[in-house]
Amino acid sequence: MEFFSLVLYLSLTTTLLTLLSLLSRSRAGPKLPPGPAPLPVVGNLLKLGDKPHKSLAELAKIHGPIMSLKLGRKTAVVISSPALAKEVLQKQDLAFSSRTVPNAAHAHDHNKYSVVWLPVADRWRSLRKIMNSHIFSGSRLDANQNLRQKKVQELIDYAGKCCQDGIAVDIGGVIFTTSLNLLSNTIFSVDIANPNQDSAKQYRDLVWQIMVEAGKPNLVDYFPALAKIDPQGVRSRMTDYFGKMFELFGRLIDERLELRRLGESGGEKDVIDILLNINEENNEEIDRTHIEHLCLDLFAAGTDTTSSSVEWAMAELLHSPDTLEKAKAELEKTIGKRKTIQESDIAQLPYLRAIVKETMRLHPPGPFLIPHRVETNVEIFGYTVPQGAQVLVNAWAIGRDPSVWTNPTSFMPERFLDSDIDIRGRDFELIPFGAGRRICPGLSLAVRVIPVMLGSLINSFDWKLEGEINPEELDMEDNNGQQPDLLVAAPQLTPDDARSLLSF
Ligand code: HEM
Repeated sequence: MEFFSLVLYLSLTTTLLTLLSLLSRSRAGPKLPPGPAPLPVVGNLLKLGDKPHKSLAELAKIHGPIMSLKLGRKTAVVISSPALAKEVLQKQDLAFSSRTVPNAAHAHDHNKYSVVWLPVADRWRSLRKIMNSHIFSGSRLDANQNLRQKKVQELIDYAGKCCQDGIAVDIGGVIFTTSLNLLSNTIFSVDIANPNQDSAKQYRDLVWQIMVEAGKPNLVDYFPALAKIDPQGVRSRMTDYFGKMFELFGRLIDERLELRRLGESGGEKDVIDILLNINEENNEEIDRTHIEHLCLDLFAAGTDTTSSSVEWAMAELLHSPDTLEKAKAELEKTIGKRKTIQESDIAQLPYLRAIVKETMRLHPPGPFLIPHRVETNVEIFGYTVPQGAQVLVNAWAIGRDPSVWTNPTSFMPERFLDSDIDIRGRDFELIPFGAGRRICPGLSLAVRVIPVMLGSLINSFDWKLEGEINPEELDMEDNNGQQPDLLVAAPQLTPDDARSLLSF
């Protein structure tokens, strides 16, 4: 049964009990944050609508920046202001640092190994330490930046070929492929996605399907008693998708182990070498199962977040030709017309960096971050967040809060030119990567890759929307972090530029 029909059915059959529920809510006990009156059984599920970050931002205008809801059997607390986000993610960080694990994450016991879903305890700390020191440290990222540069050049070559052939580019699609290959090269030194090869295309589709499935509401998460039935089949599909990814990782790890046995690989070429080295030194710290689950985490958390940010930035720039012109002028002046950007150029490109921040302010890829959870009752701003509650920090609403931002819904990168506000988890009015101990460990990679891909795309070509679409007609409404239009645009070059830029 469809998710919303099932919710509706449950709601209609139980509406008569609303009064009882309201009475029980008013009984003395911990002071829950205010919120809309729940219906029996379904609670406030129907209030979520198809864009929960928007619906909850609207509800927060009525009930306040800390609000409690009943989502089926679960209590959720929604945070919608920078001051409360600071309390949750910094001042009382530890108390709020656990996770509500979605049912789908139990596929292949992923929740028992995954850095995303483990509670803050020894195993999680050890995985975070490995990521911070060995995968995402500045020196490590400096060491493998050529590899990423190569992938960006391939993206530009692909767009250049489309330009020569007069074909438009599915911008979201090629950026997703590039982001996936950037990661697969960083981890395994191979491309796992090639739009022209069916065998490689299947992994691109697989990672995409995992993201789509993870983004859909699953009734089991609100009514755990339904877990055995898996009414929407989410767990079963995730089991299939994860299984295929683990098969791929298993094969790539076996191949690498064989090369190492033959003495043909070693050192610290890529992430898999680093992890196998740590495993050889101390199997307790990370064993093979952990390595495979960590790879899944990196692909699942790092691909779509990166590519949707670049896609949104392109959409905003195509929607706002003046801003695009300013960005092009900065690039032309600083690094030269039609050149691809290097990571070392980013520091000299304040307008490009401002575009990235402004894009993440309006379109954070995870509008609610990754939901947190409290393991005990926690007092905050005079209210009690009850033990076991899910805590949703509405980064999307905070990024559009009119008491914080002037013209909050307008795309105005200029607002960041004279401002110290950054996206690194220090300024709670802008937290696309979260903050505190659960802050995104891939931040340092993302802030290199996103400006390089975006800057190279806009500096290499002029872009024209496909099908005579007027830029103003582009749909800038957020769709749970995804750009709603299929963003298709034709890269354009003057014949002279084409001769100097294109090598094929
Ligand atoms: C967690 C955002 C790219 C790996 C997170 C969280 C957010 C986030 C909001 C949750 C923070 C919280 O719970 O409070 C983003 C954005 C990205 C991005 C906006 C790019 C635009 C990446 C990349 C990787 C990555 C490139 C790795 C390749 C992770 C992991 C976690 C995480 C492993 C889980 C951390 C934990 O639970 O301890 N990210 N991310 N992310 N991200 Fe990212």
